[in-house]
Amino acid sequence: MSLTEIIKERRTIFNWLDKPVPVGLIKDLLDIAVWAPNHKMTEPWYFYLLTGEARRGWAEIHGEFAREGVSRETDDPERIQRAADKTFRHHMDIPAYLVVVQRLHKQEFVRWEDHEACVALIQNFLLLAHEQGLGTLWESPFHEERLYTYLGLQPDDRIVAYIHIGYPARIPKADERTPGRARLVHMDVKKTPDGFSSFGEFLKMEKPLRVQYNWSTSP
Ligand SMILES: Cc1cc2nc3c(=O)[nH]c(=O)nc-3n(C[C@H](O)[C@H](O)[C@H](O)COP(=O)(O)O)c2cc1C
Repeated sequence: MSLTEIIKERRTIFNWLDKPVPVGLIKDLLDIAVWAPNHKMTEPWYFYLLTGEARRGWAEIHGEFAREGVSRETDDPERIQRAADKTFRHHMDIPAYLVVVQRLHKQEFVRWEDHEACVALIQNFLLLAHEQGLGTLWESPFHEERLYTYLGLQPDDRIVAYIHIGYPARIPKADERTPGRARLVHMDVKKTPDGFSSFGEFLKMEKPLRVQYNWSTSP
């Protein structure tokens, strides 16, 4: 598979085969994924891999979230229990969770950059997993104390994402993407055009006029 194929063919997976994920393979992929860009080389990431019975407590907490959510809509105990059970089962069906945790830097600016480095690492991991025939789903985290406690996280830890991992039972159809070039503004003015004292002044011109000066917004 070429890199282009890996990028375009990776899909978010929702249905899993009942087949364990090789832990050694996940470790190998993490060793590669950490080659993400990382300003100041802070290496802000930690990983928690939940497989087997370690998923149970995680699934139970998510079942509790469902119970609490549905309880706000109804008093019907059967409906509430059904929602909690469904969420619990859904979470137990996911073969493995990789929780990506950022150790928060004391400087706010570095925290932002560190978060972005974690995101780059996550995309690396998703692509590497796809290359190995594994499916993934990148899930936004709940910042809920019960989950932090379950993992034994410290006050300066922040969950960036949970990645569901397993062998796909079904691969969804891709949603089409708007070509990147349709969102591209190409600026290439070699010198300030006649009559403009600065490039900033030039940019204030109406777009049709700017096009004469090699300003393109279309393919
Ligand atoms: C930051 C981030 C958070 C996401 N959170 C969720 C999520 O909570 N649940 C979910 O089903 N998908 C989540 N996704 C996956 C997107 O929904 C998915 O990438 C998108 O639908 C495009 O599908 P594809 O990944 O198959 O191309 C998330 C993706 C990103 C980048």
